Amino acid sequence: MNNFTYYNPTKLIFGKGQLDALPEQVKQYGRKVLIVYGGGSIKRNGIYDQVIAKLAEMDAEVFELSGVEPNPRISTVRKGVEICKNEGIEFILAVGGGSTIDCTKAIAVGAKTDVDMWDIVTKKESANDALPFGTVLTLSATGSEMNSGSVITNWETNEKHGWGAAPYTYPKFSILDPTNTFSVPKDQTIYGIVDMMSHVLEHYFHQTTNTPIQDRFCESILITVMENGPKLVEDLENYELRETIMLAGTLALNNMLNMGYQGDWATHNLEHAVSAVHDIPHGGGLAILFPNWMKHVLDEGNVSRFKQLAIRVFQVKEEGKTDMEIALEGIDKLCEFWNSIGAPAKLADYEIDESTVELMAEKTVVARPEYGNFKKLTKEDSIAIFKASL
Ligand code: NZQ
Ligand code: ZN
Repeated sequence: MNNFTYYNPTKLIFGKGQLDALPEQVKQYGRKVLIVYGGGSIKRNGIYDQVIAKLAEMDAEVFELSGVEPNPRISTVRKGVEICKNEGIEFILAVGGGSTIDCTKAIAVGAKTDVDMWDIVTKKESANDALPFGTVLTLSATGSEMNSGSVITNWETNEKHGWGAAPYTYPKFSILDPTNTFSVPKDQTIYGIVDMMSHVLEHYFHQTTNTPIQDRFCESILITVMENGPKLVEDLENYELRETIMLAGTLALNNMLNMGYQGDWATHNLEHAVSAVHDIPHGGGLAILFPNWMKHVLDEGNVSRFKQLAIRVFQVKEEGKTDMEIALEGIDKLCEFWNSIGAPAKLADYEIDESTVELMAEKTVVARPEYGNFKKLTKEDSIAIFKASL
């Protein structure tokens, strides 16, 4: 493995009833609080009322930004920045899924600079401060609750970019009560399962040697999600299943799995390009693209990694098969698993056809001409993977 420094300052507050900790946590940072949330799920399931009641216990002065879109927009970030500046907000509380949390991270940074946030998202400018913020997670998927990353979409330019400004964009705390995910509908639960598995897989495909502990961590999360995910999809209010999947989602992308090496992340780049043009759910796009990325990059030089995954995670039997056959069987088993829980398998499922392949491929190389670490890819590779995914 490579040398590394691990630093993750987010306080994780996990379990049933943990919203009780909210006032004590928030009041360390101030009384003027902006709560940020999405399209209204927190009003329908009662989480909004609970959060407001908890903030009242500390006499908070509460401001609100609602309507954060799935695939959050830079226009919404700008609205939030304006509220923070105009009202002298001291702390931001994100109540929602990855989109709400990512939007909050951008607002927190934007509140402390005169630079337009899109210039920071596109890395033309850098960030060196942020308002403190915390999260109440309502959907298990992205890991944004315990990492410093954020993904923002510009609908005017059809671009969607990941960015981050550690340590400023780490939440001060995240409250994870599995019961707050009971109301997540079946389709979003499936997307979340695909997303967290994809994060583990993005880590898993790397070229660094001697990572046996990291490999086993990754494999154990994949196996556990595959054991529990299908049961959860059929039993959405099962506390123990929600609890297991919630912890898996957080661990899958809080940088614990990739100590000492860098993962691949080409599939995420491909998916962000698809969402930037077609505004599809992130997890749905990943289910379609990941197997096709795997088939595209698999070769005799890197087959051992695929073979290890196939044998250890997908229980592929070795006898009488070549390494390549074992690897391909593992990829088929991943597809079978995602199909079995109801994830989409083709871009056609979102009515995406060949007409936008070139445009989406261009979006994959806006930030840099080559991407991916396990294997470097170019625009031509993007076109081939998109065509195989149609
Ligand atoms: O907007 P509301 O009404 O709240 O509804 C949301 C939204 O429609 C709903 N939802 C959330 N919690 C719910 C609920 N519905 C019922 N009950 C609840 N408890 O679910 C829908 C999807 O929410 P969203 O936040 O968009 O989903 P997710 O958490 O999957 O976030 C996706 C975004 O995160 C980015 C993606 O690209 C996408 O923009 N990512 C962020 C990452 C990060 N920051 O580390 C990494 C990921 O790879 C990903 O790229
Ligand atoms: Zn993801």
